[in-house]
Amino acid sequence: METNEAAVAEDGVKGPDDIRVCCGGDCMARRSAELLVVLEEKYKDDPTASVATCRCTGYCSIGPNVDVNGNIVHHNSPRNVVEHVEHARTLPPQQGMVTDAAIDQLIQREDLF
Ligand code: FES
Repeated sequence: METNEAAVAEDGVKGPDDIRVCCGGDCMARRSAELLVVLEEKYKDDPTASVATCRCTGYCSIGPNVDVNGNIVHHNSPRNVVEHVEHARTLPPQQGMVTDAAIDQLIQREDLF
């Protein structure tokens, strides 16, 4: 799933929680790749969660960051990231981030130009 719309599909069925580890430069420098390994291992057999990467979330100075259904969790480490993610999975999904897919859709709308 490209966007942070994991919570509820049009048919009302809840999809897997969308967990994305920031792989922007600052978060990578703060070892976000290790978070990705931990989360992929934790959720590899869990159909209720989907783990992927994302671009910079804009919170570089308080990273490494993980986006969970649009809720950005900060100050993660391999030791605390699962706890942070599990808490964020209890929060309402957020739709505030502008995704690549949303930008692509806007670019293709001729009525805006
Ligand atoms: S690089 Fe991760 S929030 Fe900017």
